[in-house]
Amino acid sequence: MNHCRLQTAVRLKASNNLFVMKEVRQKENICCWESPANIALVKYWGKKGDQIPANPSISLTLKKSVTKTTLSWPKKDVGRSMGLKYFFNRERHKAFEDKIISFMEELRSYFPFIDDYQFEVQSLNTFPHSAGIASSASSMSAFVLCLLSMEEKVINRRLSKDDFLKRASFLSRLGSGSACRSVYPYAALWGRDDIILAGDDQYASALCDIDPIFKSYQNSILVIDSTPKSTSSRQGHRLMDNHPYASIRYERARKHCREIIHAMRDKDLTTFIEIVEKEALELHGLMMTSDPSYILLKPNSLELMVRIRNFRQDSGTPVCFTLDAGPNIHLLYPRSYKKKVEEFIKNELLKFTAGGLWISDEIGSGPIKHY
Ligand code: PMV
Repeated sequence: MNHCRLQTAVRLKASNNLFVMKEVRQKENICCWESPANIALVKYWGKKGDQIPANPSISLTLKKSVTKTTLSWPKKDVGRSMGLKYFFNRERHKAFEDKIISFMEELRSYFPFIDDYQFEVQSLNTFPHSAGIASSASSMSAFVLCLLSMEEKVINRRLSKDDFLKRASFLSRLGSGSACRSVYPYAALWGRDDIILAGDDQYASALCDIDPIFKSYQNSILVIDSTPKSTSSRQGHRLMDNHPYASIRYERARKHCREIIHAMRDKDLTTFIEIVEKEALELHGLMMTSDPSYILLKPNSLELMVRIRNFRQDSGTPVCFTLDAGPNIHLLYPRSYKKKVEEFIKNELLKFTAGGLWISDEIGSGPIKHY
């Protein structure tokens, strides 16, 4: 499977901002990337060591749900230890700061020069924290992309676009498994399989051979509950270690990856829908059948799933649902059905959401480098 080309674009700023942009670039010790969240079609659930997945997974890259990160690195005073300040939405955020500092420790062997610098990270998400969109994929990948841009400037390391992305994916994986898929446009594959030869456990790759209809896909995220989860994804992955259905699950995930790759290439929306919904339900089935068992779905998650299936059957609209490790519902459908599905959402689904909260996102072309 070949890699898609890096779809970066330096966004043109309004003319009154150009001067500021030039100033910033001249400083040389600052860079800024935005990187998107992704939604898995075939789920990564269960891992070994430092995010080596127990099975291959496939995701769609989102467009509007992004983390925008600015990294600056003044030279530090001699003798002081590497320091990092992390600001989230312009406010110092100690919990994220500690997480990024320990990630930096892990990355030291890949970026030996980091000990010579102090760091300031300014980060913000375009999606609300309460929306139930996992922000670790977008935030970890945005941070890693900044480190790679820093590496280019500081030690003049030049990589081809494909190698740059592969390295970004590999390093993002060390921060958060699913983050490795966020660096690619449209659709990504991550994880080894004897039949899908492009899959690798260490990094993801772009899934390029897909029908253009999937590049137009919409992702409407309906927030059912925005309170913190009772069981984290980290605990959930760990519970797969002794899960009674682990080996069956991993085999099924491999099968689903192979099938969905064909369905996406051949524009087989019926198979696509079948696999996507099966995967979402299996993920939550694994949670319910783990030891100890836990449930992240809410009654309204089920209500929406049933309504979406009924709507699909009655109207012939190729819309399906998927879920992350949480109760919120992601609707997936081609852009040509946007008006129809949004009407359905407003008329029939929003009353089951938390305060009518929903996000209208779509599939996007991957990270954007601002400077
Ligand atoms: O990357 P993590 O450790 O947050 O795990 C992600 C797990 C799921 O979102 C449930 C599935 C996936 O493949 O993204």
